[in-house]
Amino acid sequence: MAGGAIVNTGGGKDYPGKLTLFVLLTCIVAATGGLIFGYDIGISGGVTAMDPFLKKFFPEVFRKKQEAKTNQYCKYDNQLLQTFTSSLYLAALVASIFAATVTRVLGRKWSMLVGGLTFLVGAALNGAAQNVAMLIIGRILLGIGVGFANQSVPVYLSEMAPARLRGMLNIGFQLMITIGILAAELINYGTNKIKAGYGWRVSLALAAVPAAIITLGSLFLPDTPNSLLERGHPEEARRMLRHIRGTEDIGEEYADLVAASEEARQVQHPWRNIVKRRYRAQLTMAVMIPFFQQLTGINVIMFYAPVLFETLGFKKDASLMSSVITGLVNVFATVVSIVTVDRVGRRKLFLQGGAQMIVCQLVVGTLIAAKFGTSGTGDIARGYAAVVVVFICAYVAGFAWSWGPLGWLVPSEIFPLEIRPAGQSINVSVNMFFTFCIAQAFLTMLCHFKFGLFYFFAGWVVIMTVFIALFLPETKNVPIEEMVLVWKSHWFWKKFIADEDVHVGGNHLQMAKNGRDTKGADA
Ligand code: BGC
Repeated sequence: MAGGAIVNTGGGKDYPGKLTLFVLLTCIVAATGGLIFGYDIGISGGVTAMDPFLKKFFPEVFRKKQEAKTNQYCKYDNQLLQTFTSSLYLAALVASIFAATVTRVLGRKWSMLVGGLTFLVGAALNGAAQNVAMLIIGRILLGIGVGFANQSVPVYLSEMAPARLRGMLNIGFQLMITIGILAAELINYGTNKIKAGYGWRVSLALAAVPAAIITLGSLFLPDTPNSLLERGHPEEARRMLRHIRGTEDIGEEYADLVAASEEARQVQHPWRNIVKRRYRAQLTMAVMIPFFQQLTGINVIMFYAPVLFETLGFKKDASLMSSVITGLVNVFATVVSIVTVDRVGRRKLFLQGGAQMIVCQLVVGTLIAAKFGTSGTGDIARGYAAVVVVFICAYVAGFAWSWGPLGWLVPSEIFPLEIRPAGQSINVSVNMFFTFCIAQAFLTMLCHFKFGLFYFFAGWVVIMTVFIALFLPETKNVPIEEMVLVWKSHWFWKKFIADEDVHVGGNHLQMAKNGRDTKGADA
């Protein structure tokens, strides 16, 4: 396989130092930024399936739902309802662009703080909503919060972590996302039972809890040595590096950081810089990885699982319960990637997870086709429904140990310092844009594509799996400021990087070119 020729220039090399308790704690706190994102993803599907919520804000959808004999595929198809879910992601897209500047100029922690605070206000507005406008403005504020958090947290984690454990610590972010989703689903399950009909308010207002956690947490977080250096505090950076690595022996890592920050200082315009030829590989990944992550179709399940299960004829309680089950699978399967990512590497997880998703999507599509055909009417037996849920769970598991965590990890670790915040913004924006598209279009797509929707996403997963096989080098264990060597030794990307573009300590360049400083990470 072409990708197999790729060499891991780090070859498992790491700087001295261990995982200190301090780093572990800061990473746990920072990762809670993922909670706010996850809570949003998980909450909207359940809320939009609640009758009192629909009656108050979307009476037309409510009426259509009541009509017997409505085509199952189309009963929730409504633009305004989809806007409720999707407005958040557009706001996050725009916010992440501003967040890049805050993250670079003021440091990573302030972006997290801004994110937490805005989110808090959004939660309050949503919980108190009297009309659709309040709902949507609240969602926009939540979105700004998510934009800031998703821009800064993954970068923070990747910079704090020792190279050999970077995957594990970074995936703490994804783990918090999945915990946020699950918590939201459980809360919906409970609030749906509130007879007086204000359950949706409780669901929406409880978003304030994860927001308070990241807001308070960020106040206590130290900044990363990379960011301290970049902002002109070399002594503090050195002290912080010693502290987080728990050793005096930080010479080599510090030298790499200094080289990276000097390079970064010469760059006045990270946005203009990132389009330069030598960053073509990183730019491509910053666009393609989030695009593909969303085209796995995962958010069809995350946003609309309760709606989807009701479409399949499940009763209300069973629908919410089934989404809790997929939520649990999502959390536990993420743990699988935490323990494997720095050992088996990113590529193998991508390829295995992709294959699993393809199979499951084809099966689910076929099962639904056999039951509902294209007319969208029919009843589904219990056992049959259970089989559908099992395959949906296997699909979610495949995502949760591949594209889910890696979609955030890989972009956060491949950019050199000078373009890291800009690169991460592109990643977040593209991710949010396609999350928006899926949220906005899914109910309509379900109505028109019917079961074919699952085949549609399966087709995309085939394409992205081939893309990874060919174009993504293995990045496990490679120190973040030496990542350029990985691209320099990749069969395709090497032609974009001139020798003069490689600035790292030691004689790594020659070794990368010869492929000698390497252990075949994936060969
Ligand atoms: C994705 C989200 C998705 C979630 C599911 C994240 O990595 O960015 O869009 O809903 O995973 O766990």
